[in-house]
Amino acid sequence: MGFRGTSQTISNFASLSLVERAFTLARHISCPWDSILDQVNGEGSLLDIGCGHGLFLQLVKRKYPQMKCAGYDHDSRKIELARTAALDKDIVFLDREQWPPIDGMVFDYISLVDVLYAIPLDQWVSLLTIASKHLSSSGSLIIKETVNFPNWKFHLCLFQETMAVKVLKYTKGAAPHLMPVGFFEGVFARAGLTILEQKRLDSWYLWPHYLFICKKNSQ
Ligand SMILES: C[S@@+](CC[C@H](N)C(=O)[O-])C[C@H]1O[C@@H](n2cnc3c(N)ncnc32)[C@H](O)[C@@H]1O
Repeated sequence: MGFRGTSQTISNFASLSLVERAFTLARHISCPWDSILDQVNGEGSLLDIGCGHGLFLQLVKRKYPQMKCAGYDHDSRKIELARTAALDKDIVFLDREQWPPIDGMVFDYISLVDVLYAIPLDQWVSLLTIASKHLSSSGSLIIKETVNFPNWKFHLCLFQETMAVKVLKYTKGAAPHLMPVGFFEGVFARAGLTILEQKRLDSWYLWPHYLFICKKNSQ
């Protein structure tokens, strides 16, 4: 579990309600952020798709204040919360009206952290194709998802995400899909992406975290 930096996360989201602060704290503790941050070298620009409250962007800015950071979420409530929490952080947040970014806007990094699972399977390729279009030719697409193994972590995660999306509705999205690694590989190929690296990130976590780093195929 990742407790490092939690006190700063509590203070970064201090302007939000107690419930939202508790949510971001739980997100901080339950996701392997340090391993995801290790994929960023501190230079250039980053777009976080499905940014939620903007936690990953805040962590990137904390480590690399010079980076240009932007976030997008289809949930306008989350974007408002992210904007409120990051007022003084020089992070740009895009809402549905501003999506997709204008042609020609490219980023050195594009991240999706626990987003694809909440999107209908037949929409993954189109979202990743948009991501690929806005990724620089040498850029990295960072995808952290939860997958379908180990079996007990899969069932725990499926239960929690079903509660999040369908019952308590604190995540706006479709029924959760925790897919096999092979399914991701097929989708990435159809979106014109090549996997550079992939690995499990679930040691010491109750959730089946998994990381893919992709680059776009040359045109
Ligand atoms: C589990 S939350 C993860 C939030 C954030 N990435 C994080 O790691 O804390 C999933 C997020 O994906 C967003 N999302 C789901 N479907 C989306 C879509 N089609 N386009 C953009 N965001 C989407 C949800 O609104 C939600 O904020």
